[in-house]
Amino acid sequence: MKKKIPYADLPVKDLDADGAAAELARLAEAIAGADDAYYRNDDPVMTDADYDALRRRILLIERAFPKLKRADSPSGRVGAAVSTAFEKHRHAAPMLSLDNAFDDADVVDFLERVRRFLGLEANAPLAVTVEPKIDGLSLSLTYEDGRLVTAATRGDGAVGENVTVNARSIDDVPVQIKGAPARMEVRGEVYMAPTDFAALNERLEAAGEKTFANPRNAAAGSLRQIDPAITASRPLRFFAYGWGVLSEPLADTQFGALRRLGKLGFVINPDMSLAGSAEEILSAYQSIGARRAALDYDIDGVVYKVDDLSYQDRLGFVSRAPRWAVAHKFPAERAETVVEAIDIQVGRTGALTPVARLRPVTVGGVVVSNATLHNADEIARKDVRVGDTVVVQRAGDVIPQVVETLVDKRPKGTEPFVFPAVCTVCGSRAENDVNPATGKEDVVRRCTGGLICGAQAVERLKHFVSRGALDVDGLGAKQIEAFFEDGLIAEPADIFTLKARQESGDIDLYTYKLKADGSRAMKDGRPVATNAKSIENLFAAIDARRAPPLDRFINALGMRQVGATNARLLARGFGGLDALRRTAETAGSVADAEAKDSAHAELLAIDGVGALVAQGVVSFFSEPHNAEAVDRLLAEVTPAPLEERAVADSPIAGKVVVFTGTLERMKRDEAKARAQALGAKVASSVSSKTDYLVAGSAAGSKAKKAADLGVTVLDEDAWLAIVDG
Ligand code: IVH
Repeated sequence: MKKKIPYADLPVKDLDADGAAAELARLAEAIAGADDAYYRNDDPVMTDADYDALRRRILLIERAFPKLKRADSPSGRVGAAVSTAFEKHRHAAPMLSLDNAFDDADVVDFLERVRRFLGLEANAPLAVTVEPKIDGLSLSLTYEDGRLVTAATRGDGAVGENVTVNARSIDDVPVQIKGAPARMEVRGEVYMAPTDFAALNERLEAAGEKTFANPRNAAAGSLRQIDPAITASRPLRFFAYGWGVLSEPLADTQFGALRRLGKLGFVINPDMSLAGSAEEILSAYQSIGARRAALDYDIDGVVYKVDDLSYQDRLGFVSRAPRWAVAHKFPAERAETVVEAIDIQVGRTGALTPVARLRPVTVGGVVVSNATLHNADEIARKDVRVGDTVVVQRAGDVIPQVVETLVDKRPKGTEPFVFPAVCTVCGSRAENDVNPATGKEDVVRRCTGGLICGAQAVERLKHFVSRGALDVDGLGAKQIEAFFEDGLIAEPADIFTLKARQESGDIDLYTYKLKADGSRAMKDGRPVATNAKSIENLFAAIDARRAPPLDRFINALGMRQVGATNARLLARGFGGLDALRRTAETAGSVADAEAKDSAHAELLAIDGVGALVAQGVVSFFSEPHNAEAVDRLLAEVTPAPLEERAVADSPIAGKVVVFTGTLERMKRDEAKARAQALGAKVASSVSSKTDYLVAGSAAGSKAKKAADLGVTVLDEDAWLAIVDG
């Protein structure tokens, strides 16, 4: 029986918290009923469109009232989505990082520093543990009376994300232990074995989903899933290597403490050893390095830790790294190979990037057949030619690079590479930009074709659906390319009309079963049909993105100079797309010089937004084609304001605040962060839009300008009184 709830008729923006909670409960029930009918009874009770509308409403309500999101919310269940919405967890003891040593001399320095600090003789014994540095992500596990109560990522070291539910599904993470200290934080690294990583990528690829670039990204992406069932299906592992707060010590040495953790049920690294001298340490380093490729986990170095825990206590920390430990990094791996061709790739913003096509060569266990040559200057400097033997380098997950041309091995008859003056895809003129701030020519040459350039259009679409942008599941680079090539989608709005066009029979997505290489699967000259479920999943994943957070939406537009970070600044600063757009259009118009200047100033007043970013935004919206494409997109998608704005009902929510002078009670950065957390916009310069100028001691011209403009000026105490309520 359905209860009649008047809230159901209200648009989300008119709901109060009670109404929102009631609506979320009602919608969850309706979805659960529809799911049962559809999946269990095979007897749908509502149309797909109605079902989607319910889900969309849930999403909108959850965005406006993030605190009300139910643990059983159906919104998380579509596809594999990485969450940005984990709760924060403050670590009882901060999670530190490690200083690096890059060569033997750095290691000797480390040992000398430790001895000097402790007042030990140069030849006094000093035991050090040697263990692989796992290339994953760190996790802190808190146990109370032997029960796992929280698992949190490192975050900024002080505050991480609470990923307890997901971490519980990792086999190597014990949820209940016997004989442990009453309170215990265990720290270690979550990682994915390279073999498991390869299998996972194959599975994702076969399902038409986005693959991961390396095991570390796969581990991070898998741990931070909204849906814990997806994390559970991913082969994550965990090595314990340390601890935070303990109610009683585990042992009196590092090695002993880890052995104790091993006995308690944690997996500790089997390749850990103890060394007593620089020679022993370096030989252990060599030995781990020699076995690197054979290990079933990626490592990027070796960590040395002073074994005696009373020494560790005395040594303590400098800024964010312990004095008692150091990470000895492996050098980037290199190999020689031959350049078979030099191609030009055209990116999303039209940048022409030269790429060396290489005779395949194994570098550090990975087959490399392409390396970036960055730009024309770089090719000229290294004089890389087709036919040359070059040294390529691969470090971590960055794109392999050509480090050196071996001129001695150059065959006869090679020619210096001539960088094209036109776009290799659309034939438009290619030009080097001029930096507005410096007046200097940029090293990057760009295609001027804009929208007529197919390469730019397809790269923009790929960016639009990518992880940091709208993150549409099941719509990866290969699908985008296939759909684009066949004219199914030409711009972002088209993604959202796929379903309607499929239903009206305009297009037939069932014929897009793609093979691993991105080509369409064919049989007897006809495309092989993809299954209905994957099309439904695609539509669901697209629909789940009809109310994207504003910052992701701004990032997705792919404006020059505006990536995830600047998109967040702009989203916070303007609060809505309309405001941003109006300002950008005014700043780009030629009609009214005064309005134009003030719009420009408004952009620049956002803390962190400089001339280049402002130029990127202004030139994007001044281009009528872009503005029209955004209009078409907005007919399908409604960006949601940032959560912190929606929740903030503090006295300074929405106010524009400028800080100047020296604050006594906290650093400027912390003051800014607090203001932003309370919903204020922090600007860097005073204008008529400024609500408060917070003036510390020695406030200069800003205070005068504020006084001239009649802006409220607060001293630090008055400011804190407002902020602290
Ligand atoms: S000890 C206070 N041991 O490296 C010392 N860290 O660069 C904390 N890592 O964030 C770290 N393997 O994620 C330690 N055997 C190991 C490690 C290790 C990997 C990571 C860890 C940390 C980062 C520091």
